[in-house]
Amino acid sequence: AHHLSGERARVRKDSSTRRLINEALMNNDFLKKLEQQHMREMVDCMYERVYAQQQLVIQEGQPGNYLYVLAEGLLEVIQNGKLLGQMRAGTAFGELAILYNCKRTATVKAVAESHIWALDRQTFQKIMMRSTQARNEEY
Ligand code: CMP
Repeated sequence: AHHLSGERARVRKDSSTRRLINEALMNNDFLKKLEQQHMREMVDCMYERVYAQQQLVIQEGQPGNYLYVLAEGLLEVIQNGKLLGQMRAGTAFGELAILYNCKRTATVKAVAESHIWALDRQTFQKIMMRSTQARNEEY
């Protein structure tokens, strides 16, 4: 059921998980400009993925179809083979390819086993449309 096409279902989350994801989105310079209602629905629809140590989460130059929030673990960001830095729990990433339809600007690799919340592009776009429609119907 995980790979059916279309919009993904909401995934139940406890309040500390919701807070971690929300704060990660709010700490991201690009995502913090989104509306609160959009943010809430994004938090609702994220689902967990586990990456093994050394596994690539994102590959520079590839098309990107997911936005992520690191819940637990440690990641490194690499560009042109050069280490740019590390990401810790509570960091949102992968937003550039989703928001601007560009290729992935860097590689993101798991330094340790990492638990990551993901949101696919299709669901992201549905969220943006649904909220706008709901608002327009009020008038
Ligand atoms: P995106 O380009 O979709 O995929 C790679 C992600 O790495 C990018 O989104 C950002 O979230 C992140 N990223 C890119 N450049 C840097 C950087 N210099 N420092 C930290 N994170 C970065």
